[in-house]
Amino acid sequence: MRRSLVIFLVIAGATLIFLLHAVSTLLALLIEDASGDAIAAAEIPSPNSTLPDTRPRLIPKIIHQTYKNETIPERWKAAQQSCIDLHPDYEYMMWTDAKSEAFIEKEYAWFLPTFTGYKHPIQRADAIRYFVLAHHGGVYIDLDDGCKRRLDPLLSYNAWLRRTVPTGISNDAMGSVPQHPFFLRIIQSLQGADRAWVLPYITIMASTGPLFLSVIWKNWIDEHSHLDQDTWPGRVRVLMPDEYTKHPWSFFNTFKGDSWHGKDAQFIFWMGKNWLLLVVVGTAVGLTLIFLVWSLYSRVLSLSASRRRGGSPRSSPRVGAYRFPGASRVPLWMRWGGGLKKKYSYELVEQHDA
Ligand SMILES: *[C@@H]1O[C@H](CO)[C@@H](O)[C@H](O)[C@H]1NC(C)=O
Ligand SMILES: *[C@@H]1O[C@H](CO)[C@@H](O)[C@H](O)[C@H]1NC(C)=O
Repeated sequence: MRRSLVIFLVIAGATLIFLLHAVSTLLALLIEDASGDAIAAAEIPSPNSTLPDTRPRLIPKIIHQTYKNETIPERWKAAQQSCIDLHPDYEYMMWTDAKSEAFIEKEYAWFLPTFTGYKHPIQRADAIRYFVLAHHGGVYIDLDDGCKRRLDPLLSYNAWLRRTVPTGISNDAMGSVPQHPFFLRIIQSLQGADRAWVLPYITIMASTGPLFLSVIWKNWIDEHSHLDQDTWPGRVRVLMPDEYTKHPWSFFNTFKGDSWHGKDAQFIFWMGKNWLLLVVVGTAVGLTLIFLVWSLYSRVLSLSASRRRGGSPRSSPRVGAYRFPGASRVPLWMRWGGGLKKKYSYELVEQHDA
């Protein structure tokens, strides 16, 4: 009994430290509003403005998009065409699965085993966008984002990302000069982040997706906060929600949601938008569970100790609690895991198209 207590305390302690460590970055991310790097609305001339925009264009005029092959689904053709039509003077690069793999093999052979080893196609779609931006520079746009106005004003930064509500950074629209240090950091971090988590949804988010990007971005700005932000070329500016979509002066039209039908899909879509909140709440629930199991366990231990000492008969009806931690933990956990997996795989089918 003594030995099992020690083992339990060690495991619980390690889990607690691990969770607290994970939560510390996520909590910092939760309160990071990106205001220090936000692209102010006043910096951007209104569409069709007569104001001469004299700022230098740093990011090359290239638009990158990804899809598994050359056959773009009907529902995204209008979005794709809107970006092409507004930018006849931009180079347009469509990264299919085959082209992406050939590109990685030729330019970043060290990454090829990780790239082809990804279990979910969406992870390759995530990873390739970081590599092409680090390599060619330009603007990456998800296929379900249409363009509402020319991107030119956004070319006047070294790099930019898009802020999501309520918190964090998305990887569905990004811009960068070639070899930008932030994007070099991103591609160098992909191998280390290639880990499987219990649920595919979390695996994708944390290995290549928005959670991965947000954590590195948060570390990036914290590490460099002492530099003069006006002259530091590594600075990453942030496109705020108002400039992203919904207003006449916004840059994009989102075609998201068109393909989402049914309550299940809506629920998953909501989870996708609130991933960080879910991670934090999930961690808090996890900590509470550990605490509960811990206190139950120590109660059981003290009960059994008092029984060995010849404790009072009043304690014997409580013996039922003995079975509680072991008996409930396994089946409940597995039932939850199985149920969620089914829902997540539905989402993966849809996500693969994006
Ligand atoms: C800008 O001009 C184009 C072409 O003249 C027009 O189609 C578009 O609606 C204008 N945009 C705004 C926001 O006025
Ligand atoms: C692209 O993929 C879709 C869906 O998997 C398939 O129907 C289509 O035939 C493919 N197109 C080409 C050119 O291979």
